[in-house]
Amino acid sequence: MTVLLLGGTSEARELAAALHDAHVPVITSLAGRTPPDAPPAGRLRVGGFGGPEALAEWLTAEGVNAVIDATHPFAERISASAVTACATADVSLLRLERPPWRAAPGDRWISVPDLPTAAATVPSHGSRVLLTTGRQDVAAFAHVDSAWFLIRSITAPLPPLPPRHELLLDRGPYTLQVERALLEQHKIDLVVTKNSGGEATAAKLVASRERGLPVIVIERPGLARSQTVHTVAEAVEWAAGVRVRSL
Ligand SMILES: NC(=O)c1ccc[n+]([C@@H]2O[C@H](COP(=O)([O-])OP(=O)(O)OC[C@H]3O[C@@H](n4cnc5c(N)ncnc54)[C@H](OP(=O)(O)O)[C@@H]3O)[C@@H](O)[C@H]2O)c1
Repeated sequence: MTVLLLGGTSEARELAAALHDAHVPVITSLAGRTPPDAPPAGRLRVGGFGGPEALAEWLTAEGVNAVIDATHPFAERISASAVTACATADVSLLRLERPPWRAAPGDRWISVPDLPTAAATVPSHGSRVLLTTGRQDVAAFAHVDSAWFLIRSITAPLPPLPPRHELLLDRGPYTLQVERALLEQHKIDLVVTKNSGGEATAAKLVASRERGLPVIVIERPGLARSQTVHTVAEAVEWAAGVRVRSL
């Protein structure tokens, strides 16, 4: 029994540790774009597979019985690749996905379906923007010259960048105290975020609510469906079931 864990999230790291503790052999796979803050438990492989057919071949060659896709809710291509590859290689697939954030009373969210719509929405809602969409997605805002952006990402964003900006290279989790101070210090009047969900980066939503700031929330893409759970414990239970069936 070997589990391939498609990672790149804190839940994936927690799940690798839990599977390892349960003596389930686990290989975590990372895209390799951002340096991990700590190596996961079990084996690690890094880099793309080369598409769904290559992933299917890799699963067969490695004798993988189960795949758990614990990638970020916006990592569309690898999730679609996992659905196709697991069907081809006849391997069980589970999706571990953190629940999305939900607006609370007092929130001034502007929900949009994608990055281009978010960029088109900025000019009418703010002029000093905290942009937290991640390094790969800043280019969608490069043509917005009516606003100044505080771009926060773990590593330097990919160009082109908006003409007026400041970079803040930082990695969560972020406390409410830190988020309050950031909004105050930079006189932020608009926040832009993906609806990533999870605790680590949720404080910006609370701090924005407290200040009455609008937040442009990019909603999740509709991913190819597979059996989905929302907690690490449920994923461990599922892997245990696959192990019993494979004996
Ligand atoms: N998108 C986000 O906002 C975001 C935020 C935080 C973390 N992440 C993490 O960063 C990674 C890349 O995100 P993305 O949005 O660029 O994904 P993506 O668009 O779905 O993936 C692009 C390509 O990168 C490779 N890849 C992605 N994740 C992989 C993994 N875990 N192991 C091996 N190869 C992987 C695959 O290459 P091949 O086709 O060659 O196999 C995939 O086709 C993901 O693992 C995700 O969990 C993403």
